[in-house]
Amino acid sequence: MTDYKKTIAQNIKIDGVSESEIYSLVCYPTDAAMGDYSLPCFKFAKVLRKSPVQIAAELSESFNKSNAGLNAEAVSGYVNFRLDRAAFVKETIEKCFSRGEEFAPAESNGKTVCIDYSSINIAKPFHIGHLLTTVIGGSLYRIFKFLGYNVVGINHLGDWGTQFGKLISAYKRWGNDDDIDKRGINALLELYVKFHEEAEKDERLNEEGRYWFKKIEDGDKEALGIFSHFKEVTLRDVDKIYKRLGIEFDSYNGESFYNDKLADVINELEEKGLLTESDGAKVVNLDEYSMPPCLILKSDGASLYATRDLAAAKYRKKTYNFDKSLYVVAYQQNLHFAQVFKVLQLMGYDWAKDCVHVPFGMVSLENAGALSTRKGNVVFLKDVLDTAVEKTAKIIDEKNPTLKDKEKTADAVGVGAVVFGALSTSRIKDMVFSYDKALNFDGETAPYIQYTHARCRSILNKSSSDFSGRTNYEALCDDESYAVIKLLSRFDEIVLSAADKYEPSIIARYLIDLSQSFNKFYISHKVVGDKARTALTYCVKNTLKNGLYLILIGAPDAM
Ligand code: ARG
Repeated sequence: MTDYKKTIAQNIKIDGVSESEIYSLVCYPTDAAMGDYSLPCFKFAKVLRKSPVQIAAELSESFNKSNAGLNAEAVSGYVNFRLDRAAFVKETIEKCFSRGEEFAPAESNGKTVCIDYSSINIAKPFHIGHLLTTVIGGSLYRIFKFLGYNVVGINHLGDWGTQFGKLISAYKRWGNDDDIDKRGINALLELYVKFHEEAEKDERLNEEGRYWFKKIEDGDKEALGIFSHFKEVTLRDVDKIYKRLGIEFDSYNGESFYNDKLADVINELEEKGLLTESDGAKVVNLDEYSMPPCLILKSDGASLYATRDLAAAKYRKKTYNFDKSLYVVAYQQNLHFAQVFKVLQLMGYDWAKDCVHVPFGMVSLENAGALSTRKGNVVFLKDVLDTAVEKTAKIIDEKNPTLKDKEKTADAVGVGAVVFGALSTSRIKDMVFSYDKALNFDGETAPYIQYTHARCRSILNKSSSDFSGRTNYEALCDDESYAVIKLLSRFDEIVLSAADKYEPSIIARYLIDLSQSFNKFYISHKVVGDKARTALTYCVKNTLKNGLYLILIGAPDAM
């Protein structure tokens, strides 16, 4: 697609204002009556010492002389630009047709992005708190792949810490292999909860927990055997959820993977004169940067979360030679990542600037209260997905009882509703998930987009198949059709901006806008039987489907 913002920026000449500055000011007016693009002139008033109204008038006059293929008009301090509609319709439809049903990813750009996401903790349930990191990371994974990056998805497992000594101790006392085999993480979680209850009564249990953790640290065969079994059980359970969400990873190297790489990091910090002692612990002092010290070694010589992240960052750079390394982790860890990145920088690694923390807010469930892992009163993600699917099945039974593939559709719609709920608001905002809102087929929801997609499908089923090829583009120049065309033309720009801001919600928002715009078009025109409008429908269907794919949501053919 031609980048018309660029055309505009190139043909508007203002002394003292750069082309890129003008480019960034060009916007899409929300009111179609204002044209296709708009340039506000208020910012130039100071440099040019003229009123915005006068500037807009002069700019549009000279722009129109440039024959850039758009028409400029000055309106109250803005220059509004209009494209030649028929030409733009043709360009957009042809581009969309050339992409076919499945948009191919861009050619490789030779760049690598590492994405650390989901990063669950062993023997802990996959609860709703993990939803955001998992789906934001999973979506970014698809988005960057689509843009031609080599992407490395990393599940930085929480598989190290004294709690695993406690778990082994609980297992030795009360564990039952059959039960663990059957109930997976739930059985492990119960052991853990029981350990804490009993340890409150009997202090010796904690002693025993430490004993088993020491054994893990020392590489004791039995301890490691039991622990790796816990790991398998956890991953087996969690994998079911990943499958349902369409999430993949290229690496499961978690915290314990770095055990034999910590000494190097500590030596290096020592050599570079960055380590100082503080109450027997070793830390990197960050006073100068207004941050508390970064803890590297506890007084008993145990390493910390940050120590492992330093080792992991170095390992990722060495192994993948990334251009960017993202960490999709809740905002509660803002300080942790600020410290780790600062220490990397102090170690002299200029690639520290390529490490980016992608924070997000908290999720809670409407009417569920605060969610905590401690006492075992957690909301399991599996239950949330199951409930959403069940509720969807009921809605489908009411709306479309004869639907084929009911179960599969209910699954795609129910899971999609939850994922969309998580991805549709800007990631940093805390959110409250509500089934009713997420499953409202007329709201700003996944089911609404999926329903629109299925509607397109059904229109196409009713049409003769030869809507492709040359069509009468003039027939799509009315306001409703043209509004859809404009959105279609923006797909790539939207995906780029989602990648740029690490913000899948930009795609989610776009798909809502496209659906609403298409439905408006559909209500005001007779589509079935009309070749041009059917062609437009085909483009919308494909764009919705490919957009949904990028935010991990399926697009059933019928609903
Ligand atoms: N397992 C950690 C948690 O649940 C998240 C790990 C994030 N990744 C990292 N490299 N620190 O809080």
